[in-house]
Amino acid sequence: MEPGRPGGRRDMDGDAGRLGSIFRILKAMNRVRSLDALLTLLARETSESIGAERSTVFIFDRARNALWSVVAEGLDRQIWLDADRGLAGHVLRTGATLITPDVSLDLRFDSSVDRSTGFTTRNALTVPIRDTRGEVTGVFQAVNKKGGVFTPGDADFLEAVAAEAGVTIENVSLYEKRRRMLESLIQALAYSIEARDPMTAGHSGNVMKYAGGISRAMGLSGAVVREIEYAALLHDYGKIGVPDAILRKPDPLDAAETEVMRSHVEQTGRILNAIEFEEDLESVARFALEHHERMDGSGYPSGLPGDAISLGGRIIAVADVFEALTAKRHYRDPMSVRDALASIRGEAGAAFDPAVVQALETYLYGGSGDS
Ligand SMILES: [Fe+2]
Ligand SMILES: [Fe+2]
Repeated sequence: MEPGRPGGRRDMDGDAGRLGSIFRILKAMNRVRSLDALLTLLARETSESIGAERSTVFIFDRARNALWSVVAEGLDRQIWLDADRGLAGHVLRTGATLITPDVSLDLRFDSSVDRSTGFTTRNALTVPIRDTRGEVTGVFQAVNKKGGVFTPGDADFLEAVAAEAGVTIENVSLYEKRRRMLESLIQALAYSIEARDPMTAGHSGNVMKYAGGISRAMGLSGAVVREIEYAALLHDYGKIGVPDAILRKPDPLDAAETEVMRSHVEQTGRILNAIEFEEDLESVARFALEHHERMDGSGYPSGLPGDAISLGGRIIAVADVFEALTAKRHYRDPMSVRDALASIRGEAGAAFDPAVVQALETYLYGGSGDS
């Protein structure tokens, strides 16, 4: 068989297993948010479907003119290839699929990877991965067809997978970039409020930690935990509008000052509502706005009772008070974890959601109930 893209295309093998693979891949593409997890799945499904010993997904690093293996089955380390060499480099440059029935007869084959890994490549199928503009951004390679050589049908299958992979790699990369940006922005916001008052520095981060711990102890999904953690990190952001004289006052506040201090909640809500969060973070503002609400309706700013308070708000309320009691403040020394928990437990039902208080105990003591 002539190496290179075959002239005549056959239909795919009509194999139900192959169709099953495509369904699993398509389903995963909508669900998987991590590039590594998605490409690992693609490599596994590909190897299984076309009977390859291994599949590798290479991404092109333009700055280094190199291809690196984001997923390399059978290897626990990354492979870096010179983008001008090897079968993968050839496909990267030409953008054309390559079936190589016997690598030892192909001068383009670069045996240095085999020498360093101890693996023996006999034959290979290499296809380009493209972004939505059609530019080649990587290479998908399957090696060592079990019991034969790769067929045009295998090439069709791998090209179809690579086409989907290309679009998804682009989307996931954008999503991850956006997410990293959002996370650093949120972190910067949190630092900016902590910088106002050194005595409460660390409060937001700790409240986030406790709220996350409680949420996980309650068995909430990863997406909801993340939403609650962001809301916890930013819950006091509105304090940015409270004057220093009140924010840093070492003595208890008088009634008028208390009123100003309390306004931080609505301020937090206003600021967070102005941020256009992505869909799975749309409750961040509401959770933060409700962190001073209490189960018996005695809280502020709205005096919401019981279930009218979001679960996120009820969790952050407990995390917030627990942090405040156990951390050193202007006007008193920290309380022990045991005393703080006893104090919060004493208000379960009236101020705090008993299920959330229970989850705090589980988080702190691993569910043994020992306190
Ligand atoms: Fe607060
Ligand atoms: Fe707080």
